[in-house]
Amino acid sequence: MKKDVIIACDFASAQATYNFLDKFREEKPFVKIGMELFYSVGPDIVREIKKRGHKIFLDLKLHDIPNTVKKSMKVLSQLDVDICSLHAAGGIDMMKAAVEGLVRPDGTRPLLIAVTMLTSVDQERMEHEILINKKLADVAAHYAMNAKNAGLDGVVCSPHEAEKIHSVCGSGFITVTPGIRFADGNTGDQQRVATPSMAKALGSDLIVVGRPITSADDPVAAYRKCVADFVGY
Ligand code: C5P
Repeated sequence: MKKDVIIACDFASAQATYNFLDKFREEKPFVKIGMELFYSVGPDIVREIKKRGHKIFLDLKLHDIPNTVKKSMKVLSQLDVDICSLHAAGGIDMMKAAVEGLVRPDGTRPLLIAVTMLTSVDQERMEHEILINKKLADVAAHYAMNAKNAGLDGVVCSPHEAEKIHSVCGSGFITVTPGIRFADGNTGDQQRVATPSMAKALGSDLIVVGRPITSADDPVAAYRKCVADFVGY
């Protein structure tokens, strides 16, 4: 997949999102709609942003029993989104059911990617809170392999895991990487961060950037800097 920058539109209302997107007059950035926006506005936000010509990553990170996930994905498949997500921790049967649910009557489906380990979780937290006593990079790679075996297209992971995941799952398996910060930026609640150029060097396919763009004094300039550093033009 062509390298691109996805903006995480973590806003609480449709109006705040449109005000933000209206700043982009020359480009149509790939947009991530997450739980906050989807739960507050509903599916109309997806339809409207699609109508405006943006590609959409609908990041609802489903995690439930296979039957529930399959039926929910069937509903989401009716929205014209480009990428959907779920948690790999839900297991292989859940991921297979999700793929089945996403296939539209015409045989097409959005790409489906699995969250391996949230980028807000570090080794210490994973071991002592979640009680997984393994190396984080190995857990992410194992979850990625499960996702691949279930028929998914890629994973959400830290840029630091992209290379290993590509080596285990193949270069065509998409790595979508949040936890992106500019060199002089605030890391906030993210633990495993990288700059856009580091993410490029580490082999990420798509970077997800939220606050470094949405909270910037000049969001368009911040977006362009991400594109220049990550995509290279
Ligand atoms: O503002 P920031 O750049 O930290 O936003 C990152 C976005 O990526 C958020 O919308 C967050 O939900 C999402 N994300 C993440 N870590 C994951 C999966 C998704 O930060 N593992």
